[in-house]
Amino acid sequence: MKTLKTLTLSILALGLVFSYAFAAGDIEKGKALFNDARLGGGTTGKSCNSCHPGGAGLGAADQKEFTIMGKKLKGLKEAINFCIGKAMKGKAIDPKSADMEDIIAYVKSLKSNAPPTAAPKKKKIEGC
Ligand code: HEC
Repeated sequence: MKTLKTLTLSILALGLVFSYAFAAGDIEKGKALFNDARLGGGTTGKSCNSCHPGGAGLGAADQKEFTIMGKKLKGLKEAINFCIGKAMKGKAIDPKSADMEDIIAYVKSLKSNAPPTAAPKKKKIEGC
């Protein structure tokens, strides 16, 4: 009986570990998406990395509120979708999608905090 209990608990614990591993975003996939100019059907030929090379200008990923071009955005997902829509002229991606989790995992893995290269004097994103 004790063996059965231990076995059940072990399976449960394993299940938890696995679900966590799959729920957390994949940094490598996130990096690929970060470098993909067609993310969200982007039409400007620019990827996140064109303007945020190595994570430049991404700020602290855990901010509660981001302000991009005077627009207040709640959290990183909204900030990312804002850039996809405005800076890449694409369509917002599903905030609950695996792609979003992967991009966030990659963004969080970056530490750089330099201003974005394509920000002309911190005012307007080119092409917006
Ligand atoms: C055409 C250039 C451009 C592209 C492409 C672009 N961004 Fe941005 N991004 C900006 C500019 C400019 C800002 C505003 C920076 C500021 O206000 O200091 C910004 C701001 C952000 C911020 C908020 C930073 C902060 O702390 O306020 C995040 C997060 C971000 N971008 C992520 C992304 C992601 C992810 C992608 C790809 C899906 C992307 N961006 C594509 C130019 C771009």
